[in-house]
Amino acid sequence: MQRRFWCLLILLAIVVAACGGTAEPPPPTATPTLDPQAAMGKQVFTRECGSCHSLSPDTVIVGPSLAGISRRAASRVPGQDARVYIMTSILRPGDYVVEGYDDLMPANFGKKLTGEEVDALVAFLMTQ
Ligand code: HEC
Repeated sequence: MQRRFWCLLILLAIVVAACGGTAEPPPPTATPTLDPQAAMGKQVFTRECGSCHSLSPDTVIVGPSLAGISRRAASRVPGQDARVYIMTSILRPGDYVVEGYDDLMPANFGKKLTGEEVDALVAFLMTQ
């Protein structure tokens, strides 16, 4: 009787360990959230740029949509990679004027924005 009890108990322990003890960790989830720098850039973008630039494809406000800018930027100006082109577009917008648009982008962002804000904007636009 006693022995049978222990056998059952051990059996039960094995069953519990087999079933409950191997709970799978939750699958790793992709993080859609922006890193802190890009998140700051998004705020600056909304404040300073969103009145003229949409982030939806083919939506022109005053300037071109910046959807897909990270892929387009490297092929705009020979010798400028995507980051350099985006930064130059912000600080000296008159250097390269996108075909079909007028040179309407304010040229004072270099004074208006801190270096940190410009870096954050570039980081954010590189996610687009
Ligand atoms: C008053 C409207 C206006 C504001 C505000 C503005 N832009 Fe522009 N932007 C334009 C126009 C118009 C163009 C196209 C002409 C040119 O290339 O300068 C342009 C062009 C650009 C381009 C080049 C796009 C391409 O396809 O090559 C980038 C990048 C850009 N702007 C980023 C910004 C950022 C970042 C801000 C905010 C700091 C901003 N713009 C604020 C009007 C604006």
